[in-house]
Amino acid sequence: MTLLGICGSLRKKSLNRALLRAVAETLPADAALVMFERLGEIPPFNSDVEGDPEPVAALKEALRAAEGVVIATPEYNYSVPGVLKNALDWASRPQPSPLRGKPVGIVGCSVGMSGSMRAQYHLRQILVYSDSPTLNQPEILIPRAQERFDQDGRMTDESTRDLMRKFGAAMVAHAQRHAA
Ligand SMILES: Cc1cc2nc3c(=O)[nH]c(=O)nc-3n(C[C@H](O)[C@H](O)[C@H](O)COP(=O)(O)O)c2cc1C
Repeated sequence: MTLLGICGSLRKKSLNRALLRAVAETLPADAALVMFERLGEIPPFNSDVEGDPEPVAALKEALRAAEGVVIATPEYNYSVPGVLKNALDWASRPQPSPLRGKPVGIVGCSVGMSGSMRAQYHLRQILVYSDSPTLNQPEILIPRAQERFDQDGRMTDESTRDLMRKFGAAMVAHAQRHAA
């Protein structure tokens, strides 16, 4: 099974990207996570534009090819980063959108105590429109994330890694349950 990883942070040393790498490392053996790394190339959504700009077409193709999507979102001002919302706006239009019915898992971390909680609940709300079933449990809301990764972004905290393993297994089962 192939899952698509999307990180809402464009930062090179993003903790949320490191979290997605930990998802990839702890997935069951028959599943793989491929990253979509072009969020920063997607132009601001404008419905005057006819057709999809190339990075948007690439995103839609990657969404179509994947059996599920794992989105890692930081919390920016109590919500998801604009680049992530912008990409989801593009992906949602026109119908039929490759997001429609696509199983999604949400993970996130923060340097503070929120663990990206408010952003994640906004993201669940956004995905209601495309009827994308979102995995409910286990929730991956990681506070004080800087204490759980080393300088190279490798997860060093074993209890968090165990949680990621549970998430990976649940995510694969979720994608299988909702297979098109
Ligand atoms: C524009 C901006 C807004 C932020 N707003 C919040 C916030 O509302 N709540 C929070 O817990 N952290 C907030 N943060 C801190 C981020 O959660 C923290 O920088 C996190 O590490 C970013 O994710 P990244 O490491 O994947 O880039 C904000 C950071 C930025 C740059």
